[in-house]
Amino acid sequence: MVLGFIDVSYLHYFGRLDTFKTLFDYNSRMNQSLMVKLCASYYWDPNTQNVITKSGCVELTPNMTRLLKLLVEQCDKPLEGMTIFLHVWEDYDKEYNPRSVRNLISNLRKRIPCLPIENHYGGRYLLHKYRESVPDIGEYVMEILDQAKNGVVITDPNMPDNPLVFVNEAFCTMFGYMPEEVLGRNCRFLQGNERDQPGLTELRRAIIERRDVTVTLRNYTKIGELIYSEVTISPIFDKKSDKLKYFLGI
Ligand SMILES: Cc1cc2nc3c(=O)[nH]c(=O)nc-3n(C[C@H](O)[C@H](O)[C@H](O)COP(=O)(O)O)c2cc1C
Repeated sequence: MVLGFIDVSYLHYFGRLDTFKTLFDYNSRMNQSLMVKLCASYYWDPNTQNVITKSGCVELTPNMTRLLKLLVEQCDKPLEGMTIFLHVWEDYDKEYNPRSVRNLISNLRKRIPCLPIENHYGGRYLLHKYRESVPDIGEYVMEILDQAKNGVVITDPNMPDNPLVFVNEAFCTMFGYMPEEVLGRNCRFLQGNERDQPGLTELRRAIIERRDVTVTLRNYTKIGELIYSEVTISPIFDKKSDKLKYFLGI
């Protein structure tokens, strides 16, 4: 179904509310059909299964609707795959299956590409609260990174074994993996058995010393093709606390 128009005053109204959590509570209390702003130009009507975008309307399956509702209610808090499973599948005879949870998250992402769901190590998922105060470019940063032609990855050095927390489409295309297959893992799986490469010594040192470095590594795609990848990694610090937050790899 394609919506012919969206009432602009209506959009202006939700634009003034801080967070979609507040709006969600408000909607439930008032039992009104106001919409929740999920991310740049995506609005969700909690009373239907529809997500409205500038160009039309995306219909969600009942499972996706339950998942989205749960993520919105718990936004900014990581949810275990098990919790998601219990809330989303009504058929309790079905055994817990992390893969089906991953698939459901990935299908929801396909329907709503800019939905800011983060995969955490250990099969946890977090939907970021939409913040109106973020400047326009901020809303698009993830899209910009995702659509960049170079492979872009972000790792979290504050988590055990510095796992990937973001991979863009170019990275996935280059190595032949789906994001779900690589998020949560350390990049070393790309090296296959070649764990003694000269570039690695330099890379390990740079990570310990929290500085940037560019190295060329022998990496392998999912189907075993050799790629010489020139990787530049840079530490990303929180400007206020000076704490190391991420490593960016391009
Ligand atoms: C941001 C970032 C990106 C990385 N990208 C790659 C990569 O594309 N290919 C690769 O072989 N290693 C990559 N690495 C390096 C491995 O994750 C790991 O640090 C390296 O193998 C040395 O550590 P290890 O001795 O524990 O394996 C990257 C590391 C970081 C922090």
